[in-house]
Amino acid sequence: AQSPNIVVLNTGQKGAVISKHIYGHFAEHLGRCIYGGFYVGENGSPIPNTNGVRNDVVAALKNLQIPNLRWPGGCFADTYHWMDGIGPKDLRPTIVNRWWGGVTEDNSFGTHDFLNMCELLETEPYLSGNVGSGTVKEFADWMQYVNHDGVSPMAKLREENGRKTPWNVKYWGVGNEAWGCGGNMTAEYYANVYRQFATYMSGWSNEDGIWRIASGASDADYHWTETLMKNIPSNLVDAVALHHYSVINWSKKSSATGFTEEEYFTTMQRATQMEELIQKHVAIMDKYDPENKVALVVDEWGGWYDVEPGTNPGFLFQQNTIRDAMIAGVTLNIFNNHADRVKMANLAQTINVLQAVILTDEEKMILTPTYHVMEMYKVHQDATLIPVSVISGDYMSGDKKLAAVYASASVDKNGATHLSLVNIDASKEQEITVRVGGSKSYKSVDGRVLTSAKLQDHNTFDKPDAVKPVNFTGAKLSNGTLTVKLPAHSVAVLELK
Ligand code: AHR
Repeated sequence: AQSPNIVVLNTGQKGAVISKHIYGHFAEHLGRCIYGGFYVGENGSPIPNTNGVRNDVVAALKNLQIPNLRWPGGCFADTYHWMDGIGPKDLRPTIVNRWWGGVTEDNSFGTHDFLNMCELLETEPYLSGNVGSGTVKEFADWMQYVNHDGVSPMAKLREENGRKTPWNVKYWGVGNEAWGCGGNMTAEYYANVYRQFATYMSGWSNEDGIWRIASGASDADYHWTETLMKNIPSNLVDAVALHHYSVINWSKKSSATGFTEEEYFTTMQRATQMEELIQKHVAIMDKYDPENKVALVVDEWGGWYDVEPGTNPGFLFQQNTIRDAMIAGVTLNIFNNHADRVKMANLAQTINVLQAVILTDEEKMILTPTYHVMEMYKVHQDATLIPVSVISGDYMSGDKKLAAVYASASVDKNGATHLSLVNIDASKEQEITVRVGGSKSYKSVDGRVLTSAKLQDHNTFDKPDAVKPVNFTGAKLSNGTLTVKLPAHSVAVLELK
């Protein structure tokens, strides 16, 4: 019988370059993301560090080749006054982190700490500026402080604080979730406020290269995107954002590890909805920006569950299972396939918060299933998309169904093709026939797969390698046709040469 799953690699069609920035990350002053996650302070922590930043974390993130890191929020960004976080640490004011647990924030990790850490990580910073409770002057001064290479009050202050050369930050978010924690604004009001802030975000050293990213819609709020695209002149905006979390129900999110198959199915519905969201937001952008000058930046995405029992509810600390690997695999395939408009994305969040790639417990650190998916997919960074056509069998849960198979492919600068495949079916293997359209032909196939016996499987501090990728033996190439037997709930990345 013919396999119900067919993936066609349209190698004759030229796809867009998949911006490496689709594989970006997000670090907020929230729970143990910055403090205890990235940063353990410079005052004699027994955890090996460089200027207070954990060495184990730096090595793990460099291995992922993280292309950018968004900071300091999230909701925190619209409460953050950057001047609180510069100068001698013992003179910095303490504030209350009112969104996230009401804890004391001593501002010991500020602008210099973050931007120097980005240099250590060899990643590009993405600064999220305060619009909700900040001023135009405060925002413009931050840009001057960070980017100006000449003589100016802020450049002088930066030098006094130990940094002569500017960091030349390219990516700037103009507020965050302006419809909610960023000021509870209407789309119409925010569009005007945005225009005002954006007007003063230029004139410093890397003027031409700066990206101004407008705070975007939540999920299917198409009115938000339409209002921004209609009312903001294209010379003032380089990207609009979008946030979408795979949450079962905001009032009953359920356990990160103790979930049922029905809950798993709902999470997959939410994750795969990213396809429709991107299509519809992009259709609006196409209407106002047919030349495709404004990018879509999905600067918050990921799974959101109940916090781990016994942890601070305001810290959003959750475990990470095979279910999260499925979210990551499916979502990154969707982003790759929309690489012509989606130029950046940020998984929420890097360490100890929501769908983290790293969890820490004092000196211990583990890599999550999501980390491994990001690592397997890094071959797509800056590669050229090969458009794929997918005919998928169904993943049935009771009388509800979803497509089981998700795919994306790209060719890298050395000519190697990478095909990433996801089978979200909770219990059935999928046999997939991969056809090669166009003149390309392949002689060899190799790859790795990430899966585990149960959807709920995850890594712990006692068993850090319970879930990790292994060599994949389920792909066979014969007479130019590739047949793949993809295990239930698995992600595979194949290399074709
Ligand atoms: O990522 C956690 C929070 O989710 C962010 O601070 C906010 O932007 C979103 O609502």
